[in-house]
Amino acid sequence: MPAPLHTSSMLKEGTFDGQTVVITGGGTGLGRSMGEYLLKLGANLVIGGRRQEVIEATAAELAQASGGQVLGVQCDVRQPEHVEAMLAAAVKKFGRVTGLVNNAAGNFICPTERLSYNAFNTVVDIVLKGSYNCTLAFGKYWIKEKIPASILNISTTYAWTGSGYVVPSAVAKAGVLIMTRSLASEWGKYRIRINCIAPGPFPTEGAWSRLMPPQLEETFDVKKKIPLQRNGEHQELANLAAYLLSDYAAYITGDVITIDGGEWLRGAGEFNGLEQVTHEEWDLLQAAMKPKK
Ligand code: COA
Repeated sequence: MPAPLHTSSMLKEGTFDGQTVVITGGGTGLGRSMGEYLLKLGANLVIGGRRQEVIEATAAELAQASGGQVLGVQCDVRQPEHVEAMLAAAVKKFGRVTGLVNNAAGNFICPTERLSYNAFNTVVDIVLKGSYNCTLAFGKYWIKEKIPASILNISTTYAWTGSGYVVPSAVAKAGVLIMTRSLASEWGKYRIRINCIAPGPFPTEGAWSRLMPPQLEETFDVKKKIPLQRNGEHQELANLAAYLLSDYAAYITGDVITIDGGEWLRGAGEFNGLEQVTHEEWDLLQAAMKPKK
């Protein structure tokens, strides 16, 4: 049996030939998966991450597996000087940079009244200010050098619904979404496109295992919570990311695409909880509700 299409490569080989894409938080998780796919499509890849040893190990592994060119740079997106040094290193190695994925994130799942002032700052500094720091540095470079470019931001579905227990992240990701829409308008004239992905559950070693208490697994049962009844596969997110970054999406800017199996809508619709009602219970309910002739 061939692999299902959603776990297969979507774009043509060579889509990113001659292009260089920088992914923050590219050493692990979804950042790594997106990088792996862009390499396969011909990109030169630069991955940034806080931990030098992780970023170097991933860069070496990805380069070896793909035969492509990968540069790993230690970069904490909270530090503008780290961001500028990462950009300079990328330009020095590859001549120029054409894409940026603002993927680095941090999140604490926690009742808000238990968070310290600094916990809020920490998440907002990484997610919102970190995305801004990279966008500003790269944007200034592209405008000065007149290079057409593409930015992909990673937001979340609770950027528009809000969500309890992740308030700093919700606030920061909402900011990322609005930055996307604002700059799409402002920087279109420089041929800089900027889009967003709002992913639902794509389990990763880092975010999932560290953030989600194991005793809550039942509550987060995908069969109940997600209309399509499964978690996302990294390849399908990588397909969407590559498409939005690529020239195939040349007329798309300022948009956000949700990829969550219908999860947020399930939570939003007033009567969606009726999913739990069995066929037999529906028979009884309908019999009781139908007017007697
Ligand atoms: N719940 C609530 N507050 C927390 C917390 C948690 N799980 N972990 C840390 N904090 C608080 C700390 O107490 C501290 O506040 P204080 O100075 O008032 O005590 C503040 O947050 C900063 O914590 P610190 O550990 O110093 O931050 P850091 O800058 O070293 O690292 C992260 C922050 C987010 C990078 C780190 O926690 C991390 O690697 N997390 C896992 C990765 C992750 O979040 N992935 C999710 C992707 S969506």
